[in-house]
Amino acid sequence: MTVLLAGGAGYIGSHTAVELLNAGHEVVIADDYSNSCPEAVNRIEELTGKKVVSYEADVKDAEAVRKIFAENKIDCVIHFAGLKAVGESVQQPVRYYRNNIDTTLTLLECMKEAGVHRFVFSSSATVYGEENKIPYVETMKRGSCSNPYGWTKVMMEEILEDAAKADPELTVVLLRYFNPIGAHESGRIGEDPQGIPNNLMPYIAQVAVGRRDHLTIFGDDYPTPDGTCRRDYIHVMDLADGHVRAVNYAKDAKGVTVFNLGTGTPYSVLDIVHTFEDANGIKIAYEMGPRRAGDLPEFWADSNKATQVLSWEAKRNLQDMCRDTWNWQKQNPNGYRQGLGEDK
Ligand code: UFG
Repeated sequence: MTVLLAGGAGYIGSHTAVELLNAGHEVVIADDYSNSCPEAVNRIEELTGKKVVSYEADVKDAEAVRKIFAENKIDCVIHFAGLKAVGESVQQPVRYYRNNIDTTLTLLECMKEAGVHRFVFSSSATVYGEENKIPYVETMKRGSCSNPYGWTKVMMEEILEDAAKADPELTVVLLRYFNPIGAHESGRIGEDPQGIPNNLMPYIAQVAVGRRDHLTIFGDDYPTPDGTCRRDYIHVMDLADGHVRAVNYAKDAKGVTVFNLGTGTPYSVLDIVHTFEDANGIKIAYEMGPRRAGDLPEFWADSNKATQVLSWEAKRNLQDMCRDTWNWQKQNPNGYRQGLGEDK
């Protein structure tokens, strides 16, 4: 199949592109590079030895998207083109709603015009909200979120469900990611956040490489075994494999299907710090700080549905995730912006 990756130069998009190409699919990338680099596309081609058609395009722009559909015979769309920083979404809610909802609507409208019927969506564990019991199962109702970013994911899921209800031709796969970390085994592609990282693993990697002085652990008084929050960390290459299986599944599926993509095993912030240290032989300086607003004490996935329906399972363990993160960061201390010096 030919798969359009909206936001395909970003962290999860670039790893998925590699896995799709390795599985024999064709890949078209549309990215506005607002939170990614064109260099990622070069690296995808280098890793796979295959050509990627790429467009510098904002997928809110219907004209730009129409052109992509007119110039390529697209069979399936994966929508990764979302803003994703929780804290920023609290400061800039309108920008988050505008970007995340409009990209989804424009893709749906242009797909309909072009006769493209398969939509795979980057959703998040955040849609389970604050009410559901752990582990999260796909049959649970969506909950209420503590920030606009989370609400955009809830709304986009609802929009896609309504669109599929109204159009029996439309197939939608909602992939609810837990906490993706790690990088391609080669260290050529990886996570490259702009500015100060919001998420734990890129922050640790930047401490390891000397870009940050120390990690602050947000709270050690949670009702968890060591007092720090627990999450379900998943290797980005296992997540990418989940996308390949979702695309294959969407080929013959009908309606909306939801899959959790997590390992089902929670690790605490201290587990991550210590495993990173052991796997890489590096000390990570850290201090305890206050809780971060909106953090849940712990959550993890029940991913049995993905195992049963997609024959998917996470193959890489936490050591692999920590080793591959460091392999990427030490080869690319400033991410894709080599030689441009320190960011803020
Ligand atoms: N943490 C720290 N210090 C840091 C950064 C994070 O202690 O500098 C802690 C957090 O408090 C949390 C854990 O590390 O306990 C993981 O934090 P991340 O920011 O890496 O991940 P979250 O679980 O908060 O966020 C993830 C996704 C979001 C999603 C959210 C809720 O990144 O997209 O889960 O599902 F919205």
